[in-house]
Amino acid sequence: MPLPPISPPLLAWYDQNRRSLPWRDIPSPYGVWVSEIMLQQTRVAAVLPYYLRWMEALPTVEALADADGETLMKLWQGLGYYSRARNLQKAARVIVEERGGRFPDTYEALLTLPGVGDYTAGAVASIAFNRPVPAVDGNALRVAARLTGIGENILEPRVRSQFRTLIAEVLPHDRPGAFNQAVMDLGAMVCLPGGAPLCGQCPLEDLCQACRLGLQASLPVRRKKAGRRVEELTVFVLLRDGKTALRQRADQGLLAGLWEFPHVPGALDEAAAGGVLADWGLTPMDWKKKIAAKHLFTHVEWRMTGYLLTVRGEGPALTWADRGDLDRLTVPSAFGKLLAEALEELDPPRQHDITDIT
Ligand code: ADE
Repeated sequence: MPLPPISPPLLAWYDQNRRSLPWRDIPSPYGVWVSEIMLQQTRVAAVLPYYLRWMEALPTVEALADADGETLMKLWQGLGYYSRARNLQKAARVIVEERGGRFPDTYEALLTLPGVGDYTAGAVASIAFNRPVPAVDGNALRVAARLTGIGENILEPRVRSQFRTLIAEVLPHDRPGAFNQAVMDLGAMVCLPGGAPLCGQCPLEDLCQACRLGLQASLPVRRKKAGRRVEELTVFVLLRDGKTALRQRADQGLLAGLWEFPHVPGALDEAAAGGVLADWGLTPMDWKKKIAAKHLFTHVEWRMTGYLLTVRGEGPALTWADRGDLDRLTVPSAFGKLLAEALEELDPPRQHDITDIT
C-alpha cells in the first residue's frame, strides 16, 4: 500500500504552521547535526535550553573537537545516553582531522560518522544539504502507519525499512528538508501518539486510512519483545569532612567514564552493607538514611538501595569530592536522587538556589 500524494498539502501546512526553532531559523550543518542528536533524547521544548547552551559554549565543529571531556559531559548532563555526546566529539574530530573541517554533505558520507545512523544521516543530508533522502524517526513512522493503515510492528527493522521506502517515494526532490521537518512537526503537533491525534486540524485528514477507519488509537503497532533486565544495587553515599566519595566508571559500557557513588550488586541490609564497608577499610560512624531509588535504561532497570552515612577511613580508589567538585564532575541522572541527598548534606541549598535547567 503506497502513501497517498501527501507532499503538496503537507508543505502548504508546514509553510503556515512550522515551529520557529533556532536550528531552523539560522541553519548550519553543525547546528542541524547537534540538534538532531539531542532530539533523539527528548522533545523539542526540553532540548532548546541544552541546544542554546551547547552552541554558545561550542559554536563550531572545531570547538567541539577541542572541548575537554568534563565540559562536554556537563553540557550533556540531564539528556542521558552520554555516549551520544562522546560520539558527537569523535565525529567532530573526524571532520576536523580527516576531512579538513569540511562537513560531509551526502547521506552516505554522513552515515560513516560515529553516532550517525540512518535517521540522523537523512535529517542532516536533507535539512542542511537539500539531499532527497527521508529522515524516518518515530514521528514519521506514526504518520506513515496511520496514513497507510499498515498494522505491522514498527519496532521491527524490516517494517521500518518498508516505511522508509514508502516515504522516499513521495519525498519531493525540490524541498526534502522541509518535507522531512513537516512530517516531524505534524507528528509532534497534530498526529499525536495514542488516542489523542487532532485529526480535525490535519491537512492530510482526507488522505488518511486510520482516520477513515477510526484506527488512530491502535496505530502504529509497537510490540516489544523482552522486557528490561532488573539489576539490584546497594549504593553508598559516604560522607566525611564535608565531602562525599565518588569513583569513576570504566571507559567502556554503560555510562562510561562518568562519576558515580560506590556500589555493589544486590539489595543488602544494613548489616551486610556494613560488612562491605569493613572490607573497603571504612568504619561506619552514623547511618543517617536508607534511600530507595530506581532508574530505567533502555535494556536495564536499576533498583537501588542507598545508604547515606558518615564514615572514617579512605576506601579503595575513591575520590572525596566537595561541593565544588560535584558541580564540576558529571554524575549521571541514574544517581540523581542520591546526589540530591548528598548535596543536601554537604551544603544545604539556600532558597532560590535551584537553577539547573532540567
Ligand atoms: N525532531 C527531530 N528533529 C526535528 C526537527 N528538525 N524539527 C522538529 N522536530 C524534530
